[in-house]
Amino acid sequence: MTDKLIIFDTTLRDGEQSPGASMTREEKLRIARQLERMKVDVIEAGFAASSNGDFEAVKAIAAAVKDSTICSLARANDRDISRAAEALAGANSARIHTFIATSELHMEKKLRMTREQVLEQATLAVRFARNLCGDIEFSPEDGYRSDIDFLARVCESVIQEGAGTINIPDTVGYGIPELYGDFIRRLREKVPNSDKAIWSVHCHNDLGMAVANSLAGVKIGGARQIECTINGLGERAGNCSLEEVVMAVRTRRDYFGLDVGIETSQIVPASKLVSQTTGFVVQPNKAVVGANAFAHASGIHQDGVLKARDTYEIMRAEDVGWAANKIVLGKLSGRNAFKQRLQELGIQLESEAEVNAAFVRFKDLADRKNEIFDEDIIALVMDESVTA
Ligand code: KIV
Ligand code: ZN
Repeated sequence: MTDKLIIFDTTLRDGEQSPGASMTREEKLRIARQLERMKVDVIEAGFAASSNGDFEAVKAIAAAVKDSTICSLARANDRDISRAAEALAGANSARIHTFIATSELHMEKKLRMTREQVLEQATLAVRFARNLCGDIEFSPEDGYRSDIDFLARVCESVIQEGAGTINIPDTVGYGIPELYGDFIRRLREKVPNSDKAIWSVHCHNDLGMAVANSLAGVKIGGARQIECTINGLGERAGNCSLEEVVMAVRTRRDYFGLDVGIETSQIVPASKLVSQTTGFVVQPNKAVVGANAFAHASGIHQDGVLKARDTYEIMRAEDVGWAANKIVLGKLSGRNAFKQRLQELGIQLESEAEVNAAFVRFKDLADRKNEIFDEDIIALVMDESVTA
């Protein structure tokens, strides 16, 4: 088992399935280039058979992006798979990701197929795909709600046909970390040739646990690929967010013991690009990429951070692409943070008494104003009338 955790980004496929997030070919290409800069291992560029536009987008990304593996989704049928192979023809490294649902609910109500028919279609699809591409990923859709013994039969069969990655989606975000992790572990035990494939997790966020479930799939289940999206973009409540899983594995390397090849300083630029492109605003308190993720507003925290950053920071803002952490001046700020900001602004007050007087004026203003900007501070020390 490898110690590397593969990061498979599906912002351009599953992320795009988010209502209102559809992207043009040029927009997808721009994001794919940023994902490459970030050293994402696999970029799922789209679903080539779904539209001519998506076919062209996958093709353009396959031609332009050379350092990441480029992947297209395909249903488990010859037409979709051929279309994916055609779109990926120009790629340096290509992957076809084929899927079919395996839960009783999906097979009976949606596909109207029996277990044996689904098993056969999955097997034939992977056989067909393997003749067109050396790197095949198979996903049993709604895998986590599938009967584990049937699922194990399907996984074994597609591994025998040459699928190199087996991805177990929690399609509807039903998982609980310990249970999902344990499901992956038990499933791998039931598949005789499980060691011939890399196991992957793909979690949706309907109960807000996509990141926790993915990490449990890795830690408990032994998965070595996580499927995720920038800003957690995705259908309904979204997918597992890339920035959170990557920084969790990096920050808690002591616990996970895994390497991720991501260039983390490119995370915030990627987040901003996806947000600007889709119009989906990132909430200020979103982990890692939210505007407040490295902001300190209370005096006690500001004082701690000014003395030693790790008092209240477990990651460095600069490491994920922010220019710096933020000391936000407001009514909760302390004298130390105020003094530091004066210094940063190049303001030298004559004596401690003057600093104290300015600090009193600052607190008075802060009681009336939510956030104090640099301009306020300059005005405050230059012109005492501002407090009147
Ligand atoms: O959530 C899901 O089941 C999917 C598959 C197509 C991988 O996105
Ligand atoms: Zn999905």
